[in-house]
Amino acid sequence: MELQNKNILLGITGGIAAYKAVELLRLLKKAGANVNVIMTDSAQKFVGKTTFEVLSENPVLSDLFFFDTESSVKHIELATKAHAAVIAPATANTIAKLAHGIADDALSTTLLAVTCPVLVCPSMNTDMYQNIRVQRNLDILEKDGWVILDPDSGVLACKTVGTGRLPEPWFIFDRVEAMLSKKDLRGKNILVSAGPTVEPLDPVRFISNHSSGKMGYAIARAAEKRGGQVSLVSGPVSLNAPVGVESICVQTCEEMATQMLARFDQADIIIKVAAVADYKPLDPKTSKIKKKENIKDLSILMTQNPDILKLLGKKKTKGQFLVGFAAETDDLEKNARLKIKKKNLDMIAANIVGSSDSGFKADTNKVKLFFRDGSSFDIPLMEKDKVADILIDKVIEKMG
Ligand code: PMT
Repeated sequence: MELQNKNILLGITGGIAAYKAVELLRLLKKAGANVNVIMTDSAQKFVGKTTFEVLSENPVLSDLFFFDTESSVKHIELATKAHAAVIAPATANTIAKLAHGIADDALSTTLLAVTCPVLVCPSMNTDMYQNIRVQRNLDILEKDGWVILDPDSGVLACKTVGTGRLPEPWFIFDRVEAMLSKKDLRGKNILVSAGPTVEPLDPVRFISNHSSGKMGYAIARAAEKRGGQVSLVSGPVSLNAPVGVESICVQTCEEMATQMLARFDQADIIIKVAAVADYKPLDPKTSKIKKKENIKDLSILMTQNPDILKLLGKKKTKGQFLVGFAAETDDLEKNARLKIKKKNLDMIAANIVGSSDSGFKADTNKVKLFFRDGSSFDIPLMEKDKVADILIDKVIEKMG
């Protein structure tokens, strides 16, 4: 949402990682941004201009003395209208020029004229990156208010192993989005739970549910981008840990309860998205349960798990805002309102589960929010990332 109709400058300099800028451009365009690419001469030795022109649907600026009929000073026009700029990859040479205000090509000259937030993504050989001059130049840019993205470690193009790899495009994209997000959760601690819990029957089997973690992770990501200090307690899922979030991995309801309770007192907003097993096997075996030919039906005795949300509701103090989720197949409103009362919640997000585009596993969700004061709010079917942002808007609105 942050990038819809935003003007983004994508600066590409001459490093082997220039090919990753193609995917970054694709992600920016998919999010609805208008992207103007500026390439240095060396960048064009790695990837051709045409690829970026086709994907961005804009001419690539590489010549400072390029004039078109609409604008006589193209680089100033691009700098003025930019909402954000990202330089990926950024070489030591360009970083040095930017740190010292040198303007001798289209990219460095344009960046001297921008007033928008700038993200610099250094990528180079480890020794170059750690060189005191490069570090000094990065410090200068950071002190000037630009955001520097630490490079990843791994095998580099020069066949050495170390720090200097350009982070993956999705990661850079995530940070561009964060730069443009409103910071209305700054100073707030947000505690989120996500994913399923798994309750062991024996060392190889367990009882669980279909939660993928997508909804809870979307909320954690959105809260971090909006400036919150976020802790995410998650059951086992196959999602990337959100950037800038304290991620705690758990398996069982008991473990989730321990981790949530340990962080609860410091939290201003608590959002419990996790699908927690209400019951667990009473007597989990330490060895694998063997099939017995003479036993056809097998009963497993279950015992109740703690209701984490109810425990948090009891501990809640003034100023804390507690949100639950409700996965319902029937009587959505009645059950959701009942849970607000029983668990002392300020809000509950109820989703009808059972359809392929909403609830468990889907990328989209359809949610109805119910509040303690009796009011409600419908969030129609949309991407879970968007549901997350609207849900946070409503929490902030209700907290006043
Ligand atoms: O992870 P996804 O695939 O994206 O799917 C998202 C989701 C469908 C899991 C999510 O949107 C959702 O509805 N989560 C709540 C699911 C659930 O367990 O609902 P419930 O009605 O059983 O529980 C109500 C609330 O009590 C929940 O906030 C739950 O975290 C909490 N609870 C439940 C039982 C328990 N022992 N302890 C709890 O804290």
